[in-house]
Amino acid sequence: MGFMIIDGRKVEFTDEKNILTVIRKAGIDVPTLCYHSELSTFGACRLCTVEDDRGRTFASCSEEPRDGMVIYTNSEKVRKYRKLIVELLLAAHCRDCTTCIKSGECVLQELAHRLGVKKVRFQNTREERPLDFSSPAIVRDPNKCILCGNCVRVCDEIQGIGAIDFAYRGTDAMVMPAFDRQIAETDCVNCGQCRVFCPTGAITIRTNIGEVWKALADKDTRVVAQIAPAVRVA
Ligand code: FES
Repeated sequence: MGFMIIDGRKVEFTDEKNILTVIRKAGIDVPTLCYHSELSTFGACRLCTVEDDRGRTFASCSEEPRDGMVIYTNSEKVRKYRKLIVELLLAAHCRDCTTCIKSGECVLQELAHRLGVKKVRFQNTREERPLDFSSPAIVRDPNKCILCGNCVRVCDEIQGIGAIDFAYRGTDAMVMPAFDRQIAETDCVNCGQCRVFCPTGAITIRTNIGEVWKALADKDTRVVAQIAPAVRVA
């Protein structure tokens, strides 16, 4: 039991496991992409960054609350960091937002609007990767993955399957089944939990739209004509 000063307000805490939970308990909205209370803390996206009274910035999901702490959740420095993080994520992200099945429900898209990201100043240096249509339940698009690791943790920690994990390093890092396999070649049980926890369009439900995507990617005019006669293959 103790208290913190958050944005000038005294907020009590008891057994909250991290500062982010205390902030949320106070009714303050701090953006997150990789934090879920049901999953282990990963601390990857840094969007939950806050500033303390010494000017130190840190991810609030990854630190325990300490008695007497003074933090600011919306300082100029924090707002600048968050905007830059979203801009960097968008830079390494496929930009077909207008035609993405997740448009309107994508957390990254929503954050870009909310944080006022109007343009992306950085080049996308990631190589375009093929989509994985092997599963009957989901479509995996590595070009939209922001490496939050939510799918990895839910598959492992909640479902106990561990069908996907991080692979490669640095700018080549990606989430995928081990040994370059496709989802259908793993122990995936098609539960769709990864899709529920994915904040972007990197994992989506396989619908007819998925079939259209695949056919378009393959430039398979016959299949496109069957599934979506109104769509023309460029
Ligand atoms: Fe804290 Fe992602 S939510 S680092």
